[in-house]
Amino acid sequence: MAIPKREEILARATAMFFEDCSKHGAYSFVNPEEEELKENGYISAAQSELMRDRAHADSAEWKSYERATAEPEEPESGQLPFDVSQALDTGFFVSGTSQTGKTTLAKTLAKRLIDAGVVVYAIDPSRAWLHDTPINQVIEIVEMRGQAGPWYGSTVFDVSTLNVRDQIAFADTLCKSLIEHHLSGETRYNEFLIFEESQNYLPQGGLRLATRRSNPLENVFKLVTIGANFGLRFGIVTQFSALIDKSVVKIVQQKYCGSTFEPNDIKYLKGFLGKAWSEKLSALQRGQFVYQNRERTSLIQTGPYSQSVQTDKRETQYTWNYRARVVQQCDPLQVVA
Ligand SMILES: Nc1ncnc2c1ncn2[C@@H]1O[C@H](COP(=O)(O)OP(=O)(O)O)[C@@H](O)[C@H]1O
Ligand SMILES: [Mg+2]
Repeated sequence: MAIPKREEILARATAMFFEDCSKHGAYSFVNPEEEELKENGYISAAQSELMRDRAHADSAEWKSYERATAEPEEPESGQLPFDVSQALDTGFFVSGTSQTGKTTLAKTLAKRLIDAGVVVYAIDPSRAWLHDTPINQVIEIVEMRGQAGPWYGSTVFDVSTLNVRDQIAFADTLCKSLIEHHLSGETRYNEFLIFEESQNYLPQGGLRLATRRSNPLENVFKLVTIGANFGLRFGIVTQFSALIDKSVVKIVQQKYCGSTFEPNDIKYLKGFLGKAWSEKLSALQRGQFVYQNRERTSLIQTGPYSQSVQTDKRETQYTWNYRARVVQQCDPLQVVA
């Protein structure tokens, strides 16, 4: 708790002096001397009042944290806190150890974007997006050759059979192609690219390296830093938040932090969430996330994906089961039907 400064005490003591004067009908327009205030007990009264206010503010802050963490917010009507238009400006970030419900949450967010008319892509190395998914088109990338495309509408890019180096090459090629289509005016709608295992594509220091020639992630970083200007935004999903490029995470306003025990990650996330919340991270259950959006921090409970979710105003129930699997042997430059 910060100790009140001398000037603050003096100002408060003077105010108390005038309050007393007016209470007794004795109006004074002359500022009292410090000595006089001290002798009449105003200084010590002001000091203890200020101290009490501080302690109260501290405990109010703590109480609001305790209240917020006592019970996770179970969003009514299945609506997780998610600001779509803000996501289109600044993306989203989902972190947590393996099996904490990150992909399930990212699918829910993807669904909300799709409902808002956004075309969503997911680069999926683990085939988690092929079932219970809001995206019903899958393109399996079997080989990295040439250039990606074309495809129509929201798509999962299944990169599970590629090695990590080729997954990175694919992501960069895809970003290049998306950027070109937006810059040329060919694509006029909003597009959103979700990176699973983001630490592979957006590693710490990558942005700095992106200024060098022949950087394998040049286009990924280009999309992330300037894509918002022409309708391209990104979602980060990662088990290792501390390994993601720090300046990239700073772009993102909406963060969902799931359970983690990793000291480096907790320390890093503490910078955004504050001490009390970061200490909560290791106690979270599967499906629980600390949601942060600017000033607002709250504990939220996500649902399992198969649960039917009511949308905002309509009564429609979505069962987001995967419907049609379109596997294209995307030999990326060659146009695939
Ligand atoms: N909110 C939730 N409630 C219940 N089960 C969940 C929830 N979120 C995820 N699961 C289940 O937990 C498992 C792991 O979820 P997943 O989203 O794949 O985690 P991650 O991507 O973090 O590894 C899956 O079987 C999924 O169905
Ligand atoms: Mg996952």
